[in-house]
Amino acid sequence: MKSKIRRRDFLKAASVAAAGITFMKPESVFGTSANSAVQLGLIGCGGRGTHVATSFMNSTDTRVVAIAELFGDRLTAAKDHFNQLSREKKYPEIKASNLFLGSRSYLKLLESKDVDAVLIATPPFLHPEHLLATVAAGKHVYCEKPVAVDAHGCQQVMWAGRKAGPRLNLAVGFQIRHATPFVEMVRRIHSGAIGDIVMGQAYYFTSAINFPAFPEAAPEELRIRHWIYDRVLSGDILVEQGIHVVDICNWVLQSHPLKATGAGGRKGRSDSGNCWSHYAVNYEYPNGVQVGFQSTQFDPGFGDVCERFFGTKGISESHYTGGVLIKGENAWDSGVARGSQEEISKKDWAAGSFKSSFKSALEDADPNKEKAFIESIKTGKAINEAPAGAESALSAILGRTAAYTGEEVSWDKIITSNDKWDPMIDLSQFDR
Ligand SMILES: NC(=O)c1ccc[n+]([C@@H]2O[C@H](COP(=O)([O-])OP(=O)(O)OC[C@H]3O[C@@H](n4cnc5c(N)ncnc54)[C@H](O)[C@@H]3O)[C@@H](O)[C@H]2O)c1
Repeated sequence: MKSKIRRRDFLKAASVAAAGITFMKPESVFGTSANSAVQLGLIGCGGRGTHVATSFMNSTDTRVVAIAELFGDRLTAAKDHFNQLSREKKYPEIKASNLFLGSRSYLKLLESKDVDAVLIATPPFLHPEHLLATVAAGKHVYCEKPVAVDAHGCQQVMWAGRKAGPRLNLAVGFQIRHATPFVEMVRRIHSGAIGDIVMGQAYYFTSAINFPAFPEAAPEELRIRHWIYDRVLSGDILVEQGIHVVDICNWVLQSHPLKATGAGGRKGRSDSGNCWSHYAVNYEYPNGVQVGFQSTQFDPGFGDVCERFFGTKGISESHYTGGVLIKGENAWDSGVARGSQEEISKKDWAAGSFKSSFKSALEDADPNKEKAFIESIKTGKAINEAPAGAESALSAILGRTAAYTGEEVSWDKIITSNDKWDPMIDLSQFDR
């Protein structure tokens, strides 16, 4: 009950945060014909956007019909890639009039009548702006995580969620919630397989993320190209990457953390940015459940991502790389064996996929998520992941704030803060 009241306050604050934006009536609400292919527009043609849009085309009958990008080289590469894929599938190529370049390219894409649904895969600091505009344009939307880097952005996303429902579908890029081994493990936990959860452990240990060097880029351009090394643009590693395991903790515990303490630092990183190399956060969830979160992102790398829950009847354990199981009274094993350290280190982090041949526990995560999104558009049974997406972003922001300040921080403080980070960059300088 207490948490419901908090949520109402949160929504009220959100409507203030997003005031001033005009929302159009949803014009292209799909769902009349289950046989028609959904036409997808991609905003942000980098590693993840290209990967997910390609996976949409391979897992469903979706066609990529429009793309928007800040930089010309990325737009050209994506055009060539999707036109090649379309030719292979005997679909039309992307029309020249649906190729949009520049800082306002997303607005032009949203005006295209050809686009039913939009995939937002721009850097995190842009997600609230791009998501609000997409919902305002009356398009279905799949937005990559994190939905925002600050509390203000999360409130804007919640407000967009209220405007989207119940006619528009709004999905957030937590694909692990669709991975078969994870779905079954969480179903069993929720049915009581490990009894009452007493304590949890979640960690995201990876090597450094190496974006291309871009030696010709001026400092401002390099800042955007290398947004992942900049805490204001990315949210820092807890909000940009560790959020995946925080989201799974929220899913398993069916709640958000109530408070957090934490620490961390930058020791270990060699890039020129300002993101931290490691975090150690203690989250307290309802019923006094303590969850210890740790993450690293620097070289030499060690890769393992896992959540472990200790209950009165058993222990659950779930690794990205296989090894998703329950020990104890109600033992169960997903059957996906753990990958070796060598195989794990071959992961293509930017694309969120494994390049090696072993079977990861996330193998069907992206395709299942994309199929669910398309199915919900075609059947008209709208999904709205804005509240859960914002809740996970705020949970990660809570841990980050506790670590930055060295103080105990409460959930209430975060959701009432309306804290806004200024990226201090004018993207129109890249328009040529
Ligand atoms: N769900 C996952 O497992 C997963 C995995 C990797 C990345 N991601 C998320 O996907 C998003 C993108 O990450 P990425 O690794 O693809 O980064 P990226 O840098 O490869 O791609 C981002 C693209 O957006 C473009 N862009 C920047 N500003 C723009 C603007 N105003 N308009 C249009 N395009 C613009 C950039 O030029 C770039 O091509 C991030 O939010 C990241 O956290 C999710």
